[in-house]
Amino acid sequence: MKIAMIGTGYVGLVSGVCFSDFGHEVICVDKDPRKIEMLERGEVPIYEPGLDRLMNKNVEAGRLSFTLDLERAIDGAEAVFIAVGTPTRRGDGHADLTYVMAAAEEIAKAAKDYIVIVTKSTVPVGTNAKVRDVVAAANPDLDFDVASNPEFLREGAAIDDFMKPDRVVVGVETDRAAKVMEEIYRPLYLRDFPIVTTDLESAEMIKYAANAFLATKITFINEIAALCEKVGADVKAVSKGMGMDGRIGNKFLHAGPGYGGSCFPKDTKALARIGQEHAAPISIVETVIKVNEDVKRRMIDKLVDLCGGSFNGKTVAVLGVTFKPNTDDMRDAPSLTIVPSLVGGGARVRVCDPQGKREGEHLLPSVEWQDDPYAAAKDADLIVILTEWNEFRALDLDKIASGMKSAKMADLRNIYSADAAAEAGFVAYDSIGRVGL
Ligand code: UGA
Repeated sequence: MKIAMIGTGYVGLVSGVCFSDFGHEVICVDKDPRKIEMLERGEVPIYEPGLDRLMNKNVEAGRLSFTLDLERAIDGAEAVFIAVGTPTRRGDGHADLTYVMAAAEEIAKAAKDYIVIVTKSTVPVGTNAKVRDVVAAANPDLDFDVASNPEFLREGAAIDDFMKPDRVVVGVETDRAAKVMEEIYRPLYLRDFPIVTTDLESAEMIKYAANAFLATKITFINEIAALCEKVGADVKAVSKGMGMDGRIGNKFLHAGPGYGGSCFPKDTKALARIGQEHAAPISIVETVIKVNEDVKRRMIDKLVDLCGGSFNGKTVAVLGVTFKPNTDDMRDAPSLTIVPSLVGGGARVRVCDPQGKREGEHLLPSVEWQDDPYAAAKDADLIVILTEWNEFRALDLDKIASGMKSAKMADLRNIYSADAAAEAGFVAYDSIGRVGL
């Protein structure tokens, strides 16, 4: 089957590469010539473990190619996926659908034969119906269907999430479109990965509800963590004990410095807006958005306390600035709130991140970049672990502590323990939801 993929951002590129690995002929389209040139050279514009290998394997097999030319891409294609950005619109918190609708119009003008127009971008409920209307208006003679196929990839684990999904969600209006979608996902279907086929609106809602629920789960444990600190409980034990209840589950119960990334902040805001607009406010999600900001601020309070009341004149080493490990993505990362307040408070900040430097250099001016965590911590007054990269999970704490001016640690991902820190010679250690040193 021939498939066109519009947008070679995170979701589009991963999906396009994986569909070609299923054996389909995939052409990925982007408007950005630099991106297409890079991809044609075999280079991946984003950091995602394993993606370059899988991409080049399928390019060599002749199943995957890249183009600027949308018309050529959809010529003979049975399905075209829209995987363009839906950023938060300035001012009103809504998802900005400009790129989705522009793509729909272009497809309408270029398509000749029956085609299923599939939206993969995260879009508000009702968008697929709008896409249908836009396409029908732009090309009234075109034989087509629309389908909603939201994506549940996690950055850093995207290929595995695509190849071994908990479920695939497909929203359709006709059996004909359902059959095309089934054909596309046949390799998963044959291996018993469930496909949930439903109507357009429910498919759109599943995506927002799932992300908002996960963001709520994280925020819940973050608030429990704050209470644990006050009452002397250990949030790691609490989430373990809670998570063993099959109805709760142990995933997404790790307390931390607040959720970030390209999805949870954007999607929670969009869902809250949709609820308000339909006079069915999702108050729990509105609260989650607010509490997540409070969580980040609480992190800053912790750091101020460790620095003795002020950042002024202190040297602080920050390990990890991406919103999570195995990505170079810094969108809505807690570091974007925490590092500027360190700098603004007069601290000299040294940053170490295995992949964050390229983006971080623009987003975090006035910091010093170090490739080595030990060099970053040298003569520092405080070391802050902000992202749980594997590189920071097995540090030689004795070496870190002995090189610091005052050996103090804020472990905002609960990687180490107060006992281990004390043994290594740290004079202060604070983490999330646990009694410190
Ligand atoms: C998230 C969802 O997990 C994916 O299912 C979804 O497809 C994707 O959004 C999307 O909508 O495209 P992602 O943003 O890549 O994926 O990252 P997550 O692993 O979900 O982490 C999000 C944030 O939550 C990170 O800041 C992470 O540090 C934080 N987090 C996660 C916690 O603080 N605690 C946890 O237990 C889990």
